[in-house]
Amino acid sequence: MSLTTLGLELPTDPRWVNIAEMNIGDILIDHAYCEQKAASSCISLIVQYSDKEKLVEVLTPVVAEEWGHFQRVLKELRKRNIPLGRQRKDEYVNQLRSRLRRSIGDQKEQLMDNLLLNALIEARSCERFKLLSEHIEDEGLRKFYRELMISEAGHYRNFIELAETYLPAERVRERWKEFLAVEADIMANLEVRGDRMH
Ligand SMILES: [Fe+2]
Ligand SMILES: [Fe+2]
Repeated sequence: MSLTTLGLELPTDPRWVNIAEMNIGDILIDHAYCEQKAASSCISLIVQYSDKEKLVEVLTPVVAEEWGHFQRVLKELRKRNIPLGRQRKDEYVNQLRSRLRRSIGDQKEQLMDNLLLNALIEARSCERFKLLSEHIEDEGLRKFYRELMISEAGHYRNFIELAETYLPAERVRERWKEFLAVEADIMANLEVRGDRMH
């Protein structure tokens, strides 16, 4: 899964995967919350847009998959005797939300933004899982992250395709470009830390 496939503009700082490996316990905790939030975000979309048949059909199995990922990360934590603890602040997602969420505008545009925000987080997670799957020593975790990388790439496509179901593809592409530019700017200015997945 290359950056081009995912559309991302800025590759992850190469230092990240090394410091992440040194703090793998913290990474697993943060990862567990990412999966929990991914499941909960899909549920919110299904609740909010229950009249959109395609959206409900596509996202219902994604909820199950994300919850399955959450369970698997919990298992990795348990194996290492690491407690899940309380959720930490997610600076990356908070900044994306504050810069990309619009409270006004028509409903279709809002739906598109919701879907693209999810697509963006999936794409970046996918890129990070790829780095973990290629660079860390732990063989079991490498395999685990490889599987998740493939799964999140599928989710990324799901969200983009859903956006294109409800809005013209051209409009989606235009807005997606804005999302990518904002994401690259956030990434460039975020502190590189080994206790966060993003
Ligand atoms: Fe996931
Ligand atoms: Fe996902």
